[in-house]
Amino acid sequence: MNKIGILTGGGDCPGLNPVIRAVVRKGLAEGFEIIGIKNGWKGMVENDTMPLNLDTVSGILPKGGTILGTSRTNPYKKEGELQKVKENFKKMGLYALIATGGEDTLGVASKLTKDGIPNVVGVPKTIDNDLSCTDYTFGFDTAINVAMECIDRLHTTAESHHRIIVAEVMGRHAGWIALEAGIAGGADIILIPEKPIDLDEVCAILKKRHSRGKTFSIVVVAEGAQFNSKEHITQEDKLDAFGHVRLGGIGEILAAGIEKKTGFETRVSVLGHIQRGGSPTAFDRVLGTGFGVKAVELVKNKKFGQMVALSGNKIIDVPLEDAVKALKTVDDELYEIAKVFFG
Ligand code: F6P
Repeated sequence: MNKIGILTGGGDCPGLNPVIRAVVRKGLAEGFEIIGIKNGWKGMVENDTMPLNLDTVSGILPKGGTILGTSRTNPYKKEGELQKVKENFKKMGLYALIATGGEDTLGVASKLTKDGIPNVVGVPKTIDNDLSCTDYTFGFDTAINVAMECIDRLHTTAESHHRIIVAEVMGRHAGWIALEAGIAGGADIILIPEKPIDLDEVCAILKKRHSRGKTFSIVVVAEGAQFNSKEHITQEDKLDAFGHVRLGGIGEILAAGIEKKTGFETRVSVLGHIQRGGSPTAFDRVLGTGFGVKAVELVKNKKFGQMVALSGNKIIDVPLEDAVKALKTVDDELYEIAKVFFG
């Protein structure tokens, strides 16, 4: 009755190690034994674990990624894997499981609570910040700070060469990274999945800006943004293990379209996994730490089927199933603020 397992699933993100450290420190202090499940749900399917103690978590607070490894294995997608998860939960002697992940990993966690493993608690993570019921997920702050720094750097080279540079950022089907990094980096246009792109309008804004003497511009585009016409396809056919299309490529198409319509030399820079790697910011370390401590408290108080969440500056808990019901997309109000600075 005292063993807690912790896993990290989906795309890695800065702040996962602070969560693991906090779960171990708080868990041990509360008299629990903690084990690490390796590589997300894959470790539950394969009974692949590692010991977690004061030594194994020492020094991991500032490290990016996850010492447990991660995967996009979804035990609901392959025949027989759910059964293995259930058997291994017993074999590992677990009392409770702390699942740390985004929409997909927590979607599995939520289903499991109804499919024979009720003692599950969720911890939200994603650089995309697209999980409902929490104001922020850790990883996002680091990602936008990295993207902001890249946008700053793109400014100086764009200005020197009198070019337009399109910066393509991550975020899947939500525009949070593009919007907040774009505002912070002073982008001249920000394009997000929530607002279909009108290429003529984009070019008109850029031409107007250049007509007032500017010789360079920065366009930030979210990888999931799409044109309002159907001619442009931005997604590849490849699917990840959760069945999602891989995004990417919109930047190239957009840059070509802008150059053709405006005549301004346009380059593209895809920021990619740089946004997800490296050391977490102070905000993400603090949030991950708070989430880890709260997750152990939920286990201690038998509040299963819940996810820890941030509401204002308080760490609360919400039903897991509510958190994974719908994506949290960008609100219009924030986009309106960004639009003041377009052009
Ligand atoms: O969900 C996090 C994220 O980084 C998305 O922003 C991006 O679309 C995706 O993961 C990339 O996935 P992968 O690491 O499999 O390339």
